[in-house]
Amino acid sequence: MKGEWVIFPGIPKKDRKSLNEYLAAGGYEAARKVLTQMGSQDVIEEVKKSGLRGRGGAGFPAGVKWGFVPRDVEGPRYLCCNADEGEPGTFKDREILLHVPHQLIEGMIIASYAIGANKAFVYVRGEFHKEAASLQRAIDEAKEKGFLGENLFGSDFSLDIVVHMGAGAYVCGEETALINSIEGRRGWPRLRPPFPAVKGLYGRPTIVNNVETLASVPFIISRGADEFRKYGTEKSAGTKLFAVSGWVKKPGVYERELGIPLKELLEDVCGGSRDGRPFYFVIPGGISAPPLTADELDVTMDYEALAEKGTMLGSGAVMVFPEGTCPVRVALRAIKFYEHESCGQCTPCREGSGWVARMLEDVEKGQLVGEDLELLADVAQNIFGKTVCPLGDSVALVTLGFLKKFREEFEKHLDAGRCPYAE
Ligand SMILES: Cc1cc2nc3c(=O)[nH]c(=O)nc-3n(C[C@H](O)[C@H](O)[C@H](O)COP(=O)(O)O)c2cc1C
Repeated sequence: MKGEWVIFPGIPKKDRKSLNEYLAAGGYEAARKVLTQMGSQDVIEEVKKSGLRGRGGAGFPAGVKWGFVPRDVEGPRYLCCNADEGEPGTFKDREILLHVPHQLIEGMIIASYAIGANKAFVYVRGEFHKEAASLQRAIDEAKEKGFLGENLFGSDFSLDIVVHMGAGAYVCGEETALINSIEGRRGWPRLRPPFPAVKGLYGRPTIVNNVETLASVPFIISRGADEFRKYGTEKSAGTKLFAVSGWVKKPGVYERELGIPLKELLEDVCGGSRDGRPFYFVIPGGISAPPLTADELDVTMDYEALAEKGTMLGSGAVMVFPEGTCPVRVALRAIKFYEHESCGQCTPCREGSGWVARMLEDVEKGQLVGEDLELLADVAQNIFGKTVCPLGDSVALVTLGFLKKFREEFEKHLDAGRCPYAE
């Protein structure tokens, strides 16, 4: 199968790769090459050429983002690796932290060199104790070997990596809230502009990248951008870690090329329906992505194809629901999550998420009167685009997505005066 464990061959064995094992597999050669043979601009150009897009959700081209860091500004710059992994359904970055932490460290050395950062942070989700320990061990091993610290690989480049634990807030995965949290402030997102690449951590130019994004970089440097581009589509290059959960026989994390047909991922890779019950809907990119109904599953898993269907690839977390699942209940569960995680800074998100949750609760109990579905849509719509960060947008997208795709199911609740799916 194309794109099977190309960039992350160390993950499927499920053991933790020590420094020696990583070195035996050619590890740290890309970092050595960059520091001894390449200029920082060459590195940025190679990553741009690869077409690598951010794997944290937004899909912004990594090389382009690195290029935004001003070259002519004196003083410190920072790299922040986003290992918050708080999006429900997403569980792929932890595989990197647990099994191939050196691959992430190597990617961070390369990225730090490219943007001129001598200090980097990894913001690790508060619950990821094992993952943080695995990463810290790898950082210690790398330091001992001279791959972190002063004068890396005989160059004049130095780098320290600090592991910073979060405290379990989903919003702290948003890059500017993450920056505030590292600074010791309340984890509230910041208004943009200025963007972090210009004014981020401690007011300095900062790049925030996802774990998978950074861990993909050593491959691009050692094998070349063209090799990376052999996988995926023209605009969605490379491979992706898909975290598949729900009603499939073999849920788990799989690396496959971008553009893999969703049906192939569900049937061939994940073994199809757990008990033969047909799929009812699939959320293709983490809970914030609107659902695809059973007759929309003929789609490829890339940024463009999913956007055309009104949803998104997001973090690549595929959640599969079988017939018999109440879509209102799933939407309610998602919105309850947002209500709980809303940081409270913006009124439309703070208040609106609660209003939407309460209205969905009423629909689930069959208590809303007919025209209130219009009000529900209106409240959701009024959150969209009116908040500092996209958490509020997710409340709107999820609510409107479910309402659009499952309008009849919503109405059935109201007609029956109860959830028709309940026993
Ligand atoms: C509410 C919210 C939560 C987020 N959580 C994460 C996260 O856990 N991990 C992540 O990499 N990106 C997360 N993001 C996206 C980040 O803001 C940012 O786009 C990403 O870290 C950039 O890295 P990338 O370009 O490599 O994808 C989140 C965004 C929002 C709005």
